[in-house]
Amino acid sequence: MGSNNNKHILFFVVLLFFLFLGEAHKHVRIINNMQSNVTIHCKSKDNDLGVHVLSHDDSFRWKFNVNFWQTTLFFCGFNSQHGRGVYDIFKADRDQSRCLSLCLWEVQDNGVHGFKENATMDDIWFEWQNNK
Ligand SMILES: *[C@@H]1O[C@H](CO)[C@@H](O)[C@H](O)[C@H]1NC(C)=O
Ligand SMILES: *[C@@H]1O[C@H](CO)[C@@H](O)[C@H](O)[C@H]1NC(C)=O
Repeated sequence: MGSNNNKHILFFVVLLFFLFLGEAHKHVRIINNMQSNVTIHCKSKDNDLGVHVLSHDDSFRWKFNVNFWQTTLFFCGFNSQHGRGVYDIFKADRDQSRCLSLCLWEVQDNGVHGFKENATMDDIWFEWQNNK
């Protein structure tokens, strides 16, 4: 009987966990606005999203759930003929309220620009760490 109660408790814990995760669903989209290609490589502590070459107007997107501890972090390396750099592209404590469901980034000749959800102006500009 004790183990039956434990099963019920476990069921509710798992259910709550999934409800919580469902609410924290995020998308990140990176668009290449340059005429030339950019190579990107995004990772978190647990996930490697691989190397992608984006030509003009191409985009790369992924979705994920912010973890229970609000420590989710994705960082991406960018390499283009204008410059290169590695930047935090989703950071829970910064972006949880900046973008409710979609975080948009544009790669431009002068660096990587971040937009709040539905914003027309960027609020973050990462200049290239190494200009070419
Ligand atoms: C840019 O990327 C496209 C698609 O991946 C590729 O076909 C093309 O050769 C690339 N151009 C350069 C200059 O690397
Ligand atoms: C952004 O725009 C979409 C489509 O118009 C809308 O559904 C969404 O609620 C908007 N998000 C915010 C945070 O205003």
